[in-house]
Amino acid sequence: MKNKNRIFITIEGGEGAGKSTHCRLLKRYFETCGRTCVLTREPGGTKSSESIRKILLHPQSNIFPLTELFLYEADRAQHIQEIVLPALKQGKVVICDRFIDATVAYQGYGRKIDLKIIEQLNKIASFALKPALTIYLDIDAKRGLNNAKKLNKESYGLSGDRIERESALFHSNVRKGYLSQSKKEPKRIKVIKTQKTAQETHNLIREEIKKCLKIY
Ligand code: TMP
Repeated sequence: MKNKNRIFITIEGGEGAGKSTHCRLLKRYFETCGRTCVLTREPGGTKSSESIRKILLHPQSNIFPLTELFLYEADRAQHIQEIVLPALKQGKVVICDRFIDATVAYQGYGRKIDLKIIEQLNKIASFALKPALTIYLDIDAKRGLNNAKKLNKESYGLSGDRIERESALFHSNVRKGYLSQSKKEPKRIKVIKTQKTAQETHNLIREEIKKCLKIY
């Protein structure tokens, strides 16, 4: 984005990589630097998008891959217009827990939907907005899934939400998708291996932010 005040960062990762924790730590970091920061997520982030999220993640939802793709894009179209673009216009820092790269990884590499279709729909739904920086938190797919299921057990039981219930192969394909995306766009997508403690991982994220965005 041209205006230096506008910073749009997305955090991606497989299941249980600790994205939500890192989004919160990052928000706090920007706030201590004196910036107003909006933390949001996909799917979700607005009232109607949270309803779409429930349909997408409920284990009993019977959804075909193409329906799933359109629901993620519908969620995005709402979220970008209601939250992301207005916040950026006001000069706020926007941190988004998942965005377009998740669709490439999950619906493209996971569900095997044609990547060209996904690229087009991503572009339409996001109003062609690309993050200045995307952090991909890399964790072993199996270890991450175990973390996620433990965290989610109150909402969906130990088997996890609808996506967490997918096979190990699906989740390892998702990881391949993210890694291949990062090779295609190495300047924007930075891969950070999750460390032993959240603070150590957070420090690495901060270093990338300083290097890539040339700020703080
Ligand atoms: P999360 O809030 O735990 O990240 O859950 C969101 C789930 O939705 C997660 O399993 C990844 C999935 N997802 C997609 O499959 N496609 C997408 O475009 C997005 C944004 C998320």
